[in-house]
Amino acid sequence: MKGIVLAGGSGTRLYPVTRGISKQLLPVYDKPMVYYPLSVLMLAGIREILLVSTPLDLPLFKRLLGDGSDFGLSLSYAEQARPEGLPQALSIGREFLAGSPVCLILGDNIFYGQDLTALLRKNRDLAGGATLFAYHVTTPERYGVVELNPAGEVLSLEEKPDKPRSHLAVTGLYFFGPDAPDEADRLKPGRRGELEILDLARRYWERGELRLERFGRGTAWFDTGTHLGLLDAANFIHAVQSRQGLQIGCLEEIAYRQGWIDQPRLEYLAGKMENSTYGKYLLSLTES
Ligand code: DAU
Repeated sequence: MKGIVLAGGSGTRLYPVTRGISKQLLPVYDKPMVYYPLSVLMLAGIREILLVSTPLDLPLFKRLLGDGSDFGLSLSYAEQARPEGLPQALSIGREFLAGSPVCLILGDNIFYGQDLTALLRKNRDLAGGATLFAYHVTTPERYGVVELNPAGEVLSLEEKPDKPRSHLAVTGLYFFGPDAPDEADRLKPGRRGELEILDLARRYWERGELRLERFGRGTAWFDTGTHLGLLDAANFIHAVQSRQGLQIGCLEEIAYRQGWIDQPRLEYLAGKMENSTYGKYLLSLTES
């Protein structure tokens, strides 16, 4: 299983304000936004990751994350020339994927919760089909919406409907089998003029190969597409981290705990930022 993080720009409310700089480079509380989705892929045990972003911002992501070895990862990069839709990331990633199944995550989605790792690992081992993850929200009209029957089977999938048929949003985390680039290539732009991820999911649904997982109440999911969403996420991360003294989305910690980087490496990385809270936290991990 390989991973793709889509961290490009699009005409969202924040993008014009950041003057075209991809917001995934900006911090959510104490670390860059892109750390959070990367940490989700790492918790799933995925180490080969492709980051897709704009030609302008790709050099900045490379500067931030390098070849991934600081985090025990193998990171590659690819350009998306224009934001023509989420499924395009799979077509762009065709060579990188080389026939492997994939976990695609949006660079502005933040997940946190106890059931997360188990749910990820369960789906990581699936060889084909597709998996969507649903989450109960108050404002489903802002998202892709899935409607289920009492047996938990998918009845409908709609992108930002005016009249949502349920409160279940489809989160920006998707698993697809090895045929994903081929299926993505067959899509036509939807009413927003871009390729739609739910149109891709629908192709799997129509042939009975779509699974749906629901995140429970104990999981937090944030889409930082608006300034309020961004603030909510930052406040949440601050509240949990300061209460527990444990970091959310700390890539070096995850790599260290999974045995992907050793203690001398962690000490070295911590030493490079020892004056920051983040660096001090990394140092404390080597002492416990
Ligand atoms: O966050 C979950 C939602 O993400 C889902 O519920 C929707 O079904 C899905 O379509 C998507 O909706 P958004 O309105 O959040 O999509 P948006 O166009 O804002 O793009 C999401 C992120 O992906 C954003 O950070 C920009 C980036 N992006 C977007 C597009 C269309 C790219 O990098 N390239 C693109 O071509």
